[in-house]
Amino acid sequence: DWVMGDYISEAVEHIRKQVGSDEVILGLSGGVDSSVAAALIHRAIGDQLTCVFVDHGLLRLNEGDMVMEMFARNLGVKVIRVDAKEKFMSELAGVADPEAKRKIIGKEFVEIFQAESGKIENAKWLAQGTIYPDVIESAGKGKKGAHTIKSHHNVGGLPEDMHLKLLEPLRELFKDEVRELGVALGLPREMVYRHPFPGPGLGVRILGEVKAEFAHLLQRADAIFIEELRNTVDQASQKSWYDLTSQAFAVFLPVKSVGVMGDGRTYEYVVALRAVQTQDFMTAHWAHLPYELLGKVSNRIINEVRGINRVVYDISGKPPATIEWE
Ligand code: XMP
Repeated sequence: DWVMGDYISEAVEHIRKQVGSDEVILGLSGGVDSSVAAALIHRAIGDQLTCVFVDHGLLRLNEGDMVMEMFARNLGVKVIRVDAKEKFMSELAGVADPEAKRKIIGKEFVEIFQAESGKIENAKWLAQGTIYPDVIESAGKGKKGAHTIKSHHNVGGLPEDMHLKLLEPLRELFKDEVRELGVALGLPREMVYRHPFPGPGLGVRILGEVKAEFAHLLQRADAIFIEELRNTVDQASQKSWYDLTSQAFAVFLPVKSVGVMGDGRTYEYVVALRAVQTQDFMTAHWAHLPYELLGKVSNRIINEVRGINRVVYDISGKPPATIEWE
């Protein structure tokens, strides 16, 4: 619509004035905010923007290829894809504690990002997809009574010693406005309305020690769950169960249980399904997904993902449980 069109031209003008002929770098995560920021900044300054996409191997199935397809191929954005899977896996080897894993993933991410962006000549600006609620949240940090249950590594930005000025064109927008902007800039609706995905990714959805083998199993199980949620429409509301839930994903449990397959005995891992409904993610209800949907997802995972022989559904609310299992 024309209101969004006006907004875009103003924002584009503003970015051009701010940046001049400098180069800008942006850490692309595949999430909504950094994606919309990238699309907007690219609209303003084209090739003066370079995005760095760090693939830590703990993304959703085919996420890396999708990011490259959408930005590099469709939008013509300069994207450097860094394959850091092995580096992350080796740093994470032997580490089981959730907060320790978050710290390692956050630190590695920053180091790799810094190393890559250091190679971009004349880079003066660091662009971030900070949105208005992030600004509010970090203003409240350190207040009395506020304590950390989980350290969110991607909130708070990158270290100051990068000597870059911050470019944050979404700072005044709420999430729904960011989404509208994304669609207006040509990002696929499906991408822009995706469930949130935590910065440490599957690193906190593989309980305990992270292994590449577990990540592969989890990615496939998760993709089946999401596909069925998208394909199952609730008759009453005419919405898909993906749109009726705020966040849904699979969790890998490094526990083996016994099963039967054909005339053989199996002894394989367990996957838990989690789906919640919430307004603010501070409290959440588990979603009352239809039994037929749960049954289909379970059958498909067990049949299609060799290595998983049992699927369970998480029926815990937040509080006392959190949305993620770690
Ligand atoms: P919890 O598990 O605390 O999750 O109920 C609330 C929301 O925060 C997300 N989450 C994270 N996001 N880095 C992130 O960027 C993290 O370390 C992290 N831990 C949890 C979670 O996916 C949910 O949307």
